[in-house]
Amino acid sequence: MIKYSLLFICNFIFVVVLSQSQASIVLQTKNTHLVLTVGNNHRLYQSYLGARLTSPGDLEKLSGGREVYLTGGMENQFEPAIRMVHADGNPSLELEYASHTTEQKENVSYINIILKDPVYPVKVQLQYRGYFNEDVITCNATIQHHEKKPVRLTQYASSLLHFNAGTYWLTQFHGDWAREANMVDEQLTNGIKNIESKLGTRTNFYQTPAFFLSLDKPATETSGELIAGTLGWTGNFQFTFEIDQRNQLRLRSGINPFASDYTLNPGELFTTPEFIFTYSNQGKGQASRNLHRWARNYAVLDGKSPRLTLLNNWEATYFNFNETKLIELFDGAKQLGVDLFLLDDGWFGNTFPRDSDKAGLGDWQENKSKLPNGIGRLVAEATKRGIKFGIWLEPEMVNPKSDLYQQHPDWILRLPNRAVHLARNQLVLDLTNPKVQDFVFSIVDGLLTKNLGVAFIKWDCNRSMTNAYSAYLKEKQSHLFIEYTRCLYKVLDRIRARYPHLPIMLCSGGGGRTDYGALKYFTEFWPSDNTDGLERIFIQWGYSYFFPANTMAAHITSMGKGQSLKFRTDVAMAGKLGYDIRVNEFTPQELQFSQEAVTTYKRINDVIWQGDLYRIISPYEENRAVTMYVNDKKSKAILFNYILNVRRKDIFTRVQLQGLDAQKKYRFKEINLFPGTKANNPDNDKVFTGDYLMTVGLNLTPGKVLSLTSNVYEITEE
Ligand code: DGJ
Repeated sequence: MIKYSLLFICNFIFVVVLSQSQASIVLQTKNTHLVLTVGNNHRLYQSYLGARLTSPGDLEKLSGGREVYLTGGMENQFEPAIRMVHADGNPSLELEYASHTTEQKENVSYINIILKDPVYPVKVQLQYRGYFNEDVITCNATIQHHEKKPVRLTQYASSLLHFNAGTYWLTQFHGDWAREANMVDEQLTNGIKNIESKLGTRTNFYQTPAFFLSLDKPATETSGELIAGTLGWTGNFQFTFEIDQRNQLRLRSGINPFASDYTLNPGELFTTPEFIFTYSNQGKGQASRNLHRWARNYAVLDGKSPRLTLLNNWEATYFNFNETKLIELFDGAKQLGVDLFLLDDGWFGNTFPRDSDKAGLGDWQENKSKLPNGIGRLVAEATKRGIKFGIWLEPEMVNPKSDLYQQHPDWILRLPNRAVHLARNQLVLDLTNPKVQDFVFSIVDGLLTKNLGVAFIKWDCNRSMTNAYSAYLKEKQSHLFIEYTRCLYKVLDRIRARYPHLPIMLCSGGGGRTDYGALKYFTEFWPSDNTDGLERIFIQWGYSYFFPANTMAAHITSMGKGQSLKFRTDVAMAGKLGYDIRVNEFTPQELQFSQEAVTTYKRINDVIWQGDLYRIISPYEENRAVTMYVNDKKSKAILFNYILNVRRKDIFTRVQLQGLDAQKKYRFKEINLFPGTKANNPDNDKVFTGDYLMTVGLNLTPGKVLSLTSNVYEITEE
C-alpha cells in the first residue's frame, strides 16, 4: 500500500509519497509540478512536468516515464546525461536511486537525490531548487567516485528533461558583434539540434544561452505551453534537443563537453552549473516575467537595489582623451544630472601606451601623459561636481605589446609550436594559473584600494579563445574550458568578498557574456556596441525574454541615422539608462530635453527596473514595438510606443494594454516630450478603467504616422 505524507509549510506543499521500495519525489512551485518516481528497477524516472495538479490524489497516480539522468554505455541509445569511463576502462554507468532529502526555506524548496552505481563506487547527486512564487526551477548534478584511480567523464549534463508533444517549436537567439540576440523560431524535427558555444571566453558572442521550447504549437506572448531555459555558466554551453523515432523529445542542458573530457580524481566533486527553467501555459510573456522576478530576487547581484545612471566616454572619445578633456566631460555628466562618469578603455599603459587596441592591455598603470595626476585626480574632480567615478578594465587579457606579455609569457594561453592567433590584437591570460588569478584580483583590488572613490567598474572581455593551450594545466588540456570558467568565478568570489556591492557592468565586446552564472557577480550587462536606437529596439527585445530591464545597460549615443535624440532616449529609457555622447554638442533644446529625461527616468525607473514586463506588439511582427512595465500594486505603468521604418501599407490597429487591474481607474499621460512639442494623442491626460484599456485599448498612432518616432506614457492609478 502506498503511504503518503503531506507537509504544509506556509503556502507551500511538499509531497513525499513513500512506499517500502519506492519513493515519489514532488517539486512544486505556484503553477508547476515536477514529479519523479522510482521504478521497480530502482531507476529514477521523470513521471510528470507541467501545470500544477491541484489534487494530491492525482500525484499518487503518477509513475513510470523516462529516466531522469540517462547514462551512456548501457542500454540507452540516445544522448546520455552522463558518460563515464571507469578506471578499469569500462565505459558504462548505471544509476539507481539511493536516497533523497527535502528542505523548505521560505520561498525555496530544495531536493537532493542520491543515485549510485550498483557495481562501481560512483555517486551522482541531483540538486533541485523550486522557487515557489517565481515558478522557477533550477537543477544541477554533483558527480563523485571512490575508484582507485581517476575516471574519465565525457558527458556531464546539468539536467535532462523529457517531453511528449505532437510537435516541438524552438525559439533561439543568435548574433554577432553589434547584432546580438536575434530571435529565430523553428519547428524541431527528428534528430538532434544543438544550441551551443565552443568559444571559451566571450562565449555568448554568437549564441545567447537561452531558449523557449513550445509544445504542440508555437507559443505567443500570451498563450501556449512552453518552457524557457537558460544555463548559469559563463563558459561553453550546450542545449541538445533530440527527437527520437517515437517523437519523444529529450532536452539535455549543461557545459559543452566539446574537447573537454574531464579526468575526475577519487573523492573529487564535479559540480555542474545550474540549468534554470520556468514552465508556462500562458505563453512567453509569463515565462519572461517569472525569470525576471527570479533574477531580481535571487540571481543578479543586488537585483532589488537601484542602479546608477551614467555618462560613458567610449563613443564620445574612443582612445583620444586626456585629463583636461575628461574633466570637461564631467561637466556634461553634471549638466545631465546622471549619477556617474564612466571612463572607458585607453587610460593605461606607459611603455606601450594604450592609444589604440594594438597595445597596452595588461599594464594597468595610468598613462602618464594622458593622466599625469592619476585616477585620484579624476575621482576628486568628479566628486567636486557631485558625481561618482567609474572605470573600465579588461583584466583577463593581454596585448603582445605590453610589459606584462614580456614579463610573463607563461601566463598566456597559446599553443606550443604554433603561431599565436590574435583577435583584436590580444590574447587571453591563463586564469587557471593561481598566479594569474592573484594578478587579476590585485589589479581590481589595487585600483579600488588606491582610489577609494572608484564607485563602478566596467569589466570587458573582448576575445574568445583560439589556439588555446595552458602551460599551467600541462597534460590536462581538456580541462581548460571548464577550469577557466571556474577560475574566473574564483577571482570574482574574491572580489565580491571584499567589495560585495560595488556595481560592476559585465561587458564582452558588446553582449558576449550574458548569463546567470556571471550575473550573480554583476549588477548589469552591456547588451551590444550597437546603440543605434532602431537596432537596439530589436536587441533589447531579444534579451528581454530572459533578462530584466535593470540588468540591461542602454546608452544614448550619436549612432542612429535619421533618429532624433527623443527616439534614442525613449529606447534607452526602457533599460538601464546611460549616455555615451558629447553633451557639449547638444543644442540648448537637446540639453533641456536630456536633463528632463534624466529627471523623469529617476522618477519612474522603479517601475521599469522592478515592474512586470508586457511585450504587447513585437517589432518582428509589425513596423512598431509596444511594451509596458507595470508595478506590483498595478498602480503605475510605463508604456513605450516605438514606430520603426513605416511603409505605406502599414496599418496600426488599437493597442490593448496588459497587466493592469480591470477594476482600477488610470490616467493616461504622455511624458518625456521634447521641448516645444505637445502630446498629439486625443486620449492624452484622460482617465480610463483598466478594463477599458485592456479590452477596448487605445489608438497609439493617431494622425500621421512618422518613421522612427516614439512616445512614453505614464499610466497612473487615480
Ligand atoms: C568593447 C565594449 O563593448 C565597448 O563598450 C568598449 O568598452 C570597448 N570594448 C573598449 O575597448
